[in-house]
Amino acid sequence: MAKTRTAVLISGRGSNMVALLNAAKAEDFPAEIAFVLSNRADAAGLAEAEKRGVETMVIDHREFDDRAAFEADINQALGDANIELVCLAGFMRLLTSEFVDAWRDRLINIHPSILPAFKGLQTHERALAAGVRIHGATAHFVRAEMDEGPVIVQGAVPVLPSDTAESLAERVLAVEHRIYPIAVALVADRKARVVSEKVMIDEDGGHAGDVLIVPHCA
Ligand code: GAR
Repeated sequence: MAKTRTAVLISGRGSNMVALLNAAKAEDFPAEIAFVLSNRADAAGLAEAEKRGVETMVIDHREFDDRAAFEADINQALGDANIELVCLAGFMRLLTSEFVDAWRDRLINIHPSILPAFKGLQTHERALAAGVRIHGATAHFVRAEMDEGPVIVQGAVPVLPSDTAESLAERVLAVEHRIYPIAVALVADRKARVVSEKVMIDEDGGHAGDVLIVPHCA
């Protein structure tokens, strides 16, 4: 079967993008990372993508009067690159409901918490402040409301008494790098289907089961 042409949208470091690029090297990975797009020219991930020979583009949101015009250019670029699946990976712009609806169930995101807990920013600081014992990451289909949408894969780590926001972020990031490729593969393989706003994983949905809980990734 032809690989799903996939774009990754970034705004910064791009470590999740790198995790996807690494996973996509495997012959049997069902997605090809064909395009990396950033809203910031100084995103470190861009250089990394270029080094690996992936087509990149910068569409700077500050050059547009409104979100719709910014997103029209993004859509044009995605269309020109024949993209079928879009992965947000630290893309720090809110998307309009029109864009999200146009890409419904073909647009996924990685978020550094076990959703629906800790939507938004500073998730690790808030997890520590709340005193939760486990924290983690979620790969999910994107809906118009921020950090909402059917969950594809989640991974968890313990919160340790010695944790700082930085140490916790590092442990969660390792989980993000494990679960995002699994989620992308499930979607690209059409093994993750949205039914009544929940994700059903087909029986032969790969090895997702053994990483739903990641006890320790330090
Ligand atoms: C990641 O931790 C990702 O989960 C988070 O931004 C970071 C990007 O890192 N995304 C969000 O908070 C979106 N709500 P990366 O650029 O190294 O992948």
